[in-house]
Amino acid sequence: MRILITNIGELTTNAPAGDDLCGTLHDAAVLIEDDRIAWVGPAVDAPAADEVIDAAGRAVIPGFVDSHSHLVFGGDRAAEFEARMAGQKYAAGGIRSTVAATRAATDDELRIRLRGFLDEMLAQGTTTVEIKSGYGLDVETEQRLVRLAAEVTPEVTFLGAHVVPAEYADRGDAYVDLVTGAMLDACASHAKWIDVFCETGAFTVPQSRRVLEAGIARGLQPRVHASQLGPGEGVQLAVELGAASIDHGTYLTDDDVTALAGSGTVLTLLPGVEFSTRQPYPDARRLIDAGVTVALACDTNPGSSFTSSMPFCIAVAVRDMRMTVAEAIHAATAGGAAALRRDDIGRIAPDMRADLVLLKAPSRVHLAYRPGVPLVDAVWKDGVRFS
Ligand code: NIG
Ligand code: FE
Repeated sequence: MRILITNIGELTTNAPAGDDLCGTLHDAAVLIEDDRIAWVGPAVDAPAADEVIDAAGRAVIPGFVDSHSHLVFGGDRAAEFEARMAGQKYAAGGIRSTVAATRAATDDELRIRLRGFLDEMLAQGTTTVEIKSGYGLDVETEQRLVRLAAEVTPEVTFLGAHVVPAEYADRGDAYVDLVTGAMLDACASHAKWIDVFCETGAFTVPQSRRVLEAGIARGLQPRVHASQLGPGEGVQLAVELGAASIDHGTYLTDDDVTALAGSGTVLTLLPGVEFSTRQPYPDARRLIDAGVTVALACDTNPGSSFTSSMPFCIAVAVRDMRMTVAEAIHAATAGGAAALRRDDIGRIAPDMRADLVLLKAPSRVHLAYRPGVPLVDAVWKDGVRFS
């Protein structure tokens, strides 16, 4: 099946083109053949197809690649959010209440919820999602979470080291023994990634190193939650171990920035977290100007960021993190692909997966310019149209 999307007013290809980060083409067309992109070029040169879609001058962008989410959990923490907006501080300890609700939920309850979030994300233009475990924190529940995540995405992350669960209070090292032993045994075959929350109140640097090295020894690739609540050595550890990404980076030292800039580790910024915890926004301008590769993700979770909307995160990143619109769109597509070490998504070019979004707008700028407005008209994932 060959589908031609033509009369595209502004096409964001992300194919390198001089100073234009987004590889923008005007009056363009894209040919989809089955699940891949077969051709990209000027609309006047477009090849024949079985079906022709007239974009009527509107914009097309690559599907968003959301490289950080926690979508398998029970309950919510609306009361905690409400209290925070009334002045309370965010603390990672709230994770334990979601752990209790998750352990109590059945597979089907978790599955229905998970699929609901994915539908929500797809309707907002997200075509690839990374999903972490981390609300089970015992062998059986963590295995359920990675198994459920693996039903819907190849980008599954084992985050048994999210926090120390209540039953291991003050016995963090014993919990790390469990994570790197029986829990890893139960989860490794369902996951691609190993992650740890390296932060005061979660896991120390030596504990984080143990978790990551145990995962690497089992064939998992590292990514790290770090510098969310204060500065720490998690970024340096991530760079040293060749992590694909360090996520959050709300409090980065100059040494962190230098280490990231000279590394293959992406910094994944999560604007929804600063938005809904009232923490200071990291300055993306400082990072990008220093040469750091940046991704944007939603970090959908019931505690620190319960948005699933990449357009919302783009708008906040532009407004409050000093990213240009082009940088934010690039970070939410090609940046996310880099953070997942994927070279088949995040761009619109021949042989890439046919993951694209037709906007109800003449340019991508509208995604930041019209915050909160549903601007996604149609989404193709692997060449299949939704909406
Ligand atoms: O990415 N940083 C740790 N984990 C999540 C928050 C989880 C929660 O509060 O439930 C995050 O922000
Ligand atoms: Fe997270």
